[in-house]
Amino acid sequence: METRIVRISVDEIDKDLYLLRKPANSLKMGDVVAFPTETVYGLGANATMSEAVKKIFELKGRPYDNPLIVHLHSKDEVYKYASVSNEVEEKILDTFTPGPITVVLKKKEVISAISTAGLDTVGIRIPYNPIARKLIELSEVPVAAPSANISGKPSATDPNTVIEEFSGKIPYIVDGGRTHIGIESTVVKVEEAPEKFTILIVRPGFVTKEDLEEFVTSAQFKKPVEVLYVDERDVDKPISPGQKYKHYSPKCHVVLVNDINKVYEVVKEYKNGKIGLLGRPKFLSKLRKLLEYWGIKDIVELEWCKNDIIDCARNLFFAYRIFDKENTILILVERLEEKGIGYSIMNRVRKSATYIV
Ligand code: TXA
Ligand code: MG
Repeated sequence: METRIVRISVDEIDKDLYLLRKPANSLKMGDVVAFPTETVYGLGANATMSEAVKKIFELKGRPYDNPLIVHLHSKDEVYKYASVSNEVEEKILDTFTPGPITVVLKKKEVISAISTAGLDTVGIRIPYNPIARKLIELSEVPVAAPSANISGKPSATDPNTVIEEFSGKIPYIVDGGRTHIGIESTVVKVEEAPEKFTILIVRPGFVTKEDLEEFVTSAQFKKPVEVLYVDERDVDKPISPGQKYKHYSPKCHVVLVNDINKVYEVVKEYKNGKIGLLGRPKFLSKLRKLLEYWGIKDIVELEWCKNDIIDCARNLFFAYRIFDKENTILILVERLEEKGIGYSIMNRVRKSATYIV
């Protein structure tokens, strides 16, 4: 299959709108189209068409029990495909969308059961990226889309990665440059009990627990609302099926480094190849010195953030893809403080890590 790459800049979106017509039509008719969102690239298909949605699972090699997020272009559309059951869900949508959040709601019949892996709920997301929203709007259908990567690999945050993995397999790839946020949306599910609401953070992301707590305080609900992470490390019965699969992994082993003094225990087995380092300047210089002392000279360093933690999110998967190209045999990643976005970033690194030292 010939893949057409449609390049669009976010700033020129109004001028370039016509370029989205063909990919949008292709989506509507049941083909798979890759497109940028503010978080990561998505691999989209018409969520009302089981045959179209199946193609996504096949292309990614994704297990059929892991549900897809359905993307819409505006809040008005939500009610066509899902039921909003309470004031907390309603206000989350009002406050955080369009944006990097997915709200798990009661599903309506029109959404393909394959898309939601047979669940009676559907993850709904209204992306902020105007290219994504225009594409969805022009397609006139809800768009089921997982991250645009082969299952298990790091999510695609740049067009070249999508082209490498899916060129020749889908008719259109919409290229909107590198994504801004770089990690996937926060997935939340609201549970209601007689005396309180609970907002469960099923997958942490750019919208943080702290953001949700602030929202709860200022929104004034009729009942108390608590915000909780679903502890992803030791759930027996995952609330979000995606939690049980290995994720975000580059080709080689990843080590999450908490204590630099323990790095040698792992590195001693990997002395004969290229070692990748991902961290802030202090971490990089300390570890480089140590590695050199241990006789390791073949090192690729990537500086994780220039300004703030937001850069770390943006650069994580991008860095993993660079290390893959460099054929590193081990990647050492600095541990960040696990609060706010740091928590969400570390969630991704932990899932990709073979060793934590
Ligand atoms: O930022 C994002 O969310 C990106 C872009 C493309 O929008 N999409 C994305 O999709 O990351 P994916 O398929 O890679 O991850 C979807 C996650 C999985 O962990 C899945 O288990 C969870 O959302 N999920 C989807 N529907 C759900 C549901 N009904 N209940 C619970 N979890 C759900
Ligand atoms: Mg994914």
